[in-house]
Amino acid sequence: MQLVYLNGEFKPIAEANINVLDRGFTFGDGVYEVIPVFNRVVFRIDEHLKRLKNSLNAIFMEMPFNKDEWQEIFQQLVASVDANEQSIYLQITRGISEREHDISLANSPTIFAMSRPIKNADFSKGIKAITHNDIRWDYCHIKAITLLPSVLLRHLAKQHGAKEAILIKDGNVTEGAASNVFIIKDNVVYTTPETNDVLPGVTRSVILGLLKDNKFNVVEKTISEQELFDADEVWVSSSTWEIVPVTQLNDNKIADGQVGRLWQQVYDIYQQFKQCYCYS
Ligand code: PDD
Repeated sequence: MQLVYLNGEFKPIAEANINVLDRGFTFGDGVYEVIPVFNRVVFRIDEHLKRLKNSLNAIFMEMPFNKDEWQEIFQQLVASVDANEQSIYLQITRGISEREHDISLANSPTIFAMSRPIKNADFSKGIKAITHNDIRWDYCHIKAITLLPSVLLRHLAKQHGAKEAILIKDGNVTEGAASNVFIIKDNVVYTTPETNDVLPGVTRSVILGLLKDNKFNVVEKTISEQELFDADEVWVSSSTWEIVPVTQLNDNKIADGQVGRLWQQVYDIYQQFKQCYCYS
């Protein structure tokens, strides 16, 4: 039976309850991680834990456990789920306090984690994305649970028959509502640099490493909205989606509207890497 972790205990999800005064509930005062698991091996655990620590520190909280302690928790969660490919969802809030903004009123974080099977549709023929003004805040490098803008953006994308919203701030691409963005022009792969406007995606960093190892031309630079529309290929990446080709943007095709050649190569390299990392 699937077990979840809540504040030191493993229990069935229906028995895991949160106090209504938890600041995650009243303020969205917390951070989270999504960590993929392949062949029951937690993928790139160090990077995910490092990003979690950075997110916690950015909101004046401390990392509650060391790597071994996290690993023990993850192992139990993963073992309780009947699937080879899973994603761990982990959330830490500032805990319970009266409903006052003052963070010093909370002194014990709420720590929650669960693992679920990854259920992805087949995106290998490409997806449609919309573009939208980046309506989020100035600290997008923090993986904050406060996700209303992203939820609304994904809803808007769905209303337009699209899977993702690619966000534009001051005329430049930031990222997707829940993914990082790559474009390809004349065989060069471009992605936006790590700033406070984007989440430092772990998949993004894995892809960048693999591209460099395989001698692709890679440039981290600001990408304008025009460059996005003029690209030969557009990809979005995330832990659960991996690398997905975008073949339509609003009512426009990307290049000829077919999945690009480089995407196929990089997708294959990524799958090989996963295989080595988790299956050998
Ligand atoms: N989201 N940018 C944003 C805004 C994201 O929410 C995500 C992932 C990414 C990609 O990061 P990574 O490669 O580390 O998954 C980029 C997760 C999957 C989510 O919120 O469900």
